[in-house]
Amino acid sequence: MSLFVKKPMSVLLAEANDNEKGLKKTLSAGSLVALGIGAIIGAGLFVRTAAAAAQSAGPSVTIGFIVAAIGCALAGLCYAELSSSIPISGSAYTYTYATMGELMAWIIGWDLVLEYAVGAATVGIAWSEYLNNLLVNVLHWKAIAYEWCHSPFQHSIPDAAGVVHSGILNLPAFFIVSLLSLLLIKGTQESAFVNSIIVITKVAIVIMIIVLGWGFVNSANLTPYIPDPAVYTDHAGVSHSFGGIMGILGAAGTVFFAFIGFDAVSTAAQETKNPKVAMPIGILGSLAVCTILYILFAHVLTGIAPVEFFRNEGGEASVVAAINKFMPGYGWLANLVTVAILAGFSSVILVMLLGQSRVFFSMSNDGLLPKAFSDVHPKYKTPYKANLFILIIVGLFAALIPGDVVGDMTSIGTLFAFMLVCIAVIILRKTDPDLPRQFKTPFVPLVPILGVLVCGAMIYGLGWTNWLRLIVWLAIGFVIYFGYSRKNSKLNNK
Ligand code: ALA
Repeated sequence: MSLFVKKPMSVLLAEANDNEKGLKKTLSAGSLVALGIGAIIGAGLFVRTAAAAAQSAGPSVTIGFIVAAIGCALAGLCYAELSSSIPISGSAYTYTYATMGELMAWIIGWDLVLEYAVGAATVGIAWSEYLNNLLVNVLHWKAIAYEWCHSPFQHSIPDAAGVVHSGILNLPAFFIVSLLSLLLIKGTQESAFVNSIIVITKVAIVIMIIVLGWGFVNSANLTPYIPDPAVYTDHAGVSHSFGGIMGILGAAGTVFFAFIGFDAVSTAAQETKNPKVAMPIGILGSLAVCTILYILFAHVLTGIAPVEFFRNEGGEASVVAAINKFMPGYGWLANLVTVAILAGFSSVILVMLLGQSRVFFSMSNDGLLPKAFSDVHPKYKTPYKANLFILIIVGLFAALIPGDVVGDMTSIGTLFAFMLVCIAVIILRKTDPDLPRQFKTPFVPLVPILGVLVCGAMIYGLGWTNWLRLIVWLAIGFVIYFGYSRKNSKLNNK
């Protein structure tokens, strides 16, 4: 039994064509771009941008966005090659199985849980922040008590009476994750339709904020553009490198979260019509649209409010808080944004949950996870047991862990996956040079190597607490691999 047994390309391609036990092919290139944007614009932009400005970079968070976009574009070019030549569910997991063998595939599959499952939890938590905003500022009802919309590890800043509250459970986050998991069980096509409507609203809102906010940009907030290096200690007592190059790298790692999702497109390959053409369009198209919007948005957001605002009262539902305070007369925009964001976050969670269930589906088909994860519902043709399991895990993460922690864990896990995808392109060019590739990454090995370096730099910028979290996560994965997956692997037991 080898740790490095590779899944032959012929087997992979046969699986892609196996419609009997497969999923319905319903998605076109257009729905893939929508799926991509649906997954991309979300909490990263509307919550993490302010966090990155507050903790790491101030106005130079825009440069962080540029660094993150470069890393994503490099990795995106690699994703596009792999997904056009291996059009099968499972994304980076599947590519790694074919190129670097089973152990690496396991590592990446396990690591993708950070990206999709923990990512969905992060956005669920952001959804909860904006729900409170909806209740208080739009509907003028009461806020949900702090205790029931925050993790047990979170404490409020002192209220008017000087009382500090502590969280118990984040119930709204648990609720939204559960609701969307159930929608996914109902079917992918329906989910993609709901998603398309939300995507249009979301993009319209981002453009409105950029255009209307531009007039409120105060140049004092943007000076100095790159703050001098300093240490910033947040309310939880965690220190961050603020300002200078390290601040920009840290911000890049944090706002990298905002780009996560374009690769989720590749997890739906098996449900795509003509995936060899549609995949590269879906991945690179959605990435390009979002990059332009993000840089402009970050410029406006950090231009209308000072960093101190995002460190203190504007820490939650940050974009709406900033509009309400610094754009007088635009209360209606804040209300519109709140509603659109709630819908927008839902589409992100949906695609992440979809991605997670499809990765589990592939891993289970390979015997690395129990068979239940690939059982397809007789009527809906979706992997419903995997969805239910994910509902519980993601729901617990969302209910119990603070948004900053799960957000940065998502970023670091995904960056690690991107590095492996870049490496997989180089390896596959050597081991399988004749494989038909509808889309070829340009300048191999330069582009993949640069991808590894830029993603590595962002991992470096995320700091040692996050490196440690990644290492612990991978260690748990090893225990499962050697305890279960290795013994049950179909490829290893032929
Ligand atoms: N990119 C997604 C978001 O920002 C994960 O919410």
